[in-house]
Amino acid sequence: MCGIIGYTGAKNSINIILSGLHRLEYRGYDSAGIALCPKNGEKLVVVKTPGKIIDLENSIQKAFTGTENRNYTLGIGHTRWATHGAPTLANAHPHLSRNGQFAIAHNGIIENYEELKARLIKQGYSFVSETDSEVIAHLIEECYEGDLRGAVAATVEKLDGAYGIVVISSKHPDTIVAARKGSPIAVGICDGETIIASDVSAIVNYTKKVIFLNDGDILTATSDNVDITSVKNIPVSREMTHIDWDIHDIEKGGYEHFMLKEIHEQPLALANGIRGRLLENEGTAKLNSMQMDPHHMARIDRIEIAACGTSYHAGMVGKYYFEDFASISTEIQQAAEFRDRNPIIHRDTCLIAISQSGETADTLAAVREAHQKGAIVLGICNVVGSTIARESGRGVYLHAGPEISVASTKAFTSQVSVLAMIAIAFARTRRLSITAGREVIHQLSKLPEIAENVIAQEPVIKKIAEKYAEARDFFYIGRGYMYPAALEGALKLKEISYIHAEGYHAAELKHGPIALLAKNVPVVALVPNVPAKIKTMSNMLECNARHAPVIAIATEGDKDINGLYDDVIRIPPCAEFLSPIPVVIAEQLLAYHIARIRGCPIDQPRNLAKSVTVE
Ligand code: M6R
Repeated sequence: MCGIIGYTGAKNSINIILSGLHRLEYRGYDSAGIALCPKNGEKLVVVKTPGKIIDLENSIQKAFTGTENRNYTLGIGHTRWATHGAPTLANAHPHLSRNGQFAIAHNGIIENYEELKARLIKQGYSFVSETDSEVIAHLIEECYEGDLRGAVAATVEKLDGAYGIVVISSKHPDTIVAARKGSPIAVGICDGETIIASDVSAIVNYTKKVIFLNDGDILTATSDNVDITSVKNIPVSREMTHIDWDIHDIEKGGYEHFMLKEIHEQPLALANGIRGRLLENEGTAKLNSMQMDPHHMARIDRIEIAACGTSYHAGMVGKYYFEDFASISTEIQQAAEFRDRNPIIHRDTCLIAISQSGETADTLAAVREAHQKGAIVLGICNVVGSTIARESGRGVYLHAGPEISVASTKAFTSQVSVLAMIAIAFARTRRLSITAGREVIHQLSKLPEIAENVIAQEPVIKKIAEKYAEARDFFYIGRGYMYPAALEGALKLKEISYIHAEGYHAAELKHGPIALLAKNVPVVALVPNVPAKIKTMSNMLECNARHAPVIAIATEGDKDINGLYDDVIRIPPCAEFLSPIPVVIAEQLLAYHIARIRGCPIDQPRNLAKSVTVE
């Protein structure tokens, strides 16, 4: 969602902040700004603008002339995604306090801001924005008694809601203070400079050594020192994480869009995810970070999966794995629903929280609720050191590399493969035989090649995209393992192409949606060579009868479906349980090329953010 960056060191902070803001663009935003602190205690300088970073760069150029901007070696920047108040100049961050001595940038939502604002107004403060965040700047001014850290700590004690905040003050020209509750803040440790950001992609260009703040932490950073305390000023020590990817991993590498790059990275991402984890001889998977021995796993009698969006669809596939392989009763819920209801959890229940970013607010809330109820919690995350990964306590990383595009692609296929490995590990503590386990592991080892083969179909998929790019509505249908794949295909298409798309269990077609079928409504029928195919074929006939064009995703060489489709995308043969992976890769490419033909801003679709850190 919004992005934060802060810099203190010897260099010109403007360039570093702007480059950090560019790195955070993928999160989605509609205004941006910077606040700079002159070394000599003069007034803070704030430049901000609605629109894109390029607009901010133009405004900065107008604001500064000649060498003037070299004086600013400390500053903060922000990309805002509007929640409270429209994306206007006044609502853009950073916000200044009444006396102009404090500037803040804030991610998250302050739930009690109206009450705080009313009180501050009574005390003579005036507000220039409609945001919830501006109260923070005024509260810091109100609480300030010569100690910036203390003023921030006293302020956050008054706040309800979620925040990641960075604060600078003209009275402390060498210091940035940051605080976190529910919205990530990371600090990069370099020689003679310190970079603070809401996301390591803005840091990794400068250092691989990163510390993630925990909720309740207050960071005081200068160019050569970082100090972390609790709100009550008790020193806390946080582990340093070593980031194992670099700047090239988050650049486009010759691809037109991050989404396409990430689709193409799937063979490698899958290979990285299974490397060293498949024990073919033992017919199981080795996932040390799960920290569960076979006795422990055998005790689990119920699994709850909580996730959002694409991760939720991966979780649906996971439910089938736990039931099919391990015979463990498994529920999957949208994370928001998990927390809003009162799920039945006991000490032998395992909650699996799935999140690419590891920062999704609803999924994090599910993790906390499950801990509270005494469940065992496993996190499946991609971002190392993310909040869900840390708070889950145990889990499995995807090792898919950074996913920048808002539309999640390689995370889905990696999540599915990780879920298969976890399910096999559980299943082997139960009835699954070593022979059956070996076969599953053998099939998993073929995943990179399977992904490669689907990607090779891109020219065919592109041609099909050209034919259907003008459609206004799409349906995706499938059964069994193809049902979550149908939901995911529709989600991918709608979010990046803005075409209305719905995914249905193929059997549901007759219960309503069939009324919408017509010659201008393409139906993507997911019919790889699996037992459920026969029934979906009769649904294809129903589509044919209503003149709805059918795009089949089917197994190479399968002739059973001949005559039932208008167009076909062929995927390589694979075990039924793995079929969501090649099918979804084909869907990703179809969605990508349709969106490209329609001229959509693929990596940053309107209204969407990469990581949804508010409820
Ligand atoms: O980071 P997470 O996996 O927790 O994110 C969950 C969803 O917000 C995410 O998958 C979203 O649906 C994507 N835009 C889908 O492409």
